[in-house]
Amino acid sequence: MARGLLFTALFVALATGGAWAQDQKPYKVVDGYKVDPVTMTGFRTWRAAACDRCHGANQEGSVGPSLIASLKTLSKEDFVKVVRDGRQDKGMIAFSANQTVMDNLDALYAYLKGRSDGAITRARVEPMPGAGS
Ligand code: HEC
Repeated sequence: MARGLLFTALFVALATGGAWAQDQKPYKVVDGYKVDPVTMTGFRTWRAAACDRCHGANQEGSVGPSLIASLKTLSKEDFVKVVRDGRQDKGMIAFSANQTVMDNLDALYAYLKGRSDGAITRARVEPMPGAGS
């Protein structure tokens, strides 16, 4: 039946479309806080660079803005640019000389994007069982 085929095609398109969107996420998380090794590295980088000093321990903002809010609209490209170059006139320091941050920008973004998406439900994350550290 042509109609059956059409429905099948539609279903496959939706199912694979959904899977594709899922794959686009830079982080993986279960139970809201068990994350993949890259996201774990992002959290460690966040702590090592003490971003919390200005953005708050839960990324909800203090001297600096809430990154939960910012990353809903800030592109990854702009994220990388502002962390690297800073906005010195506005109090955001440049991290271009911080090798740990420069080496782990993707991981840092993954972690913060997960927080911003609401998928990572608490700031302190832990390694996913069996995913290494
Ligand atoms: C000394 C305080 C301070 C520290 C430390 C700091 N920030 Fe910021 N950050 C700010 C301020 C203030 C702004 C707002 C700048 C502005 O008004 O444009 C900002 C802006 C940003 C923005 C842009 C937000 C937006 O909506 O455009 C990002 C992303 C960001 N910071 C990430 C980080 C990350 C990641 C770290 C750690 C590696 C960090 N910041 C460390 C003070 C800080």
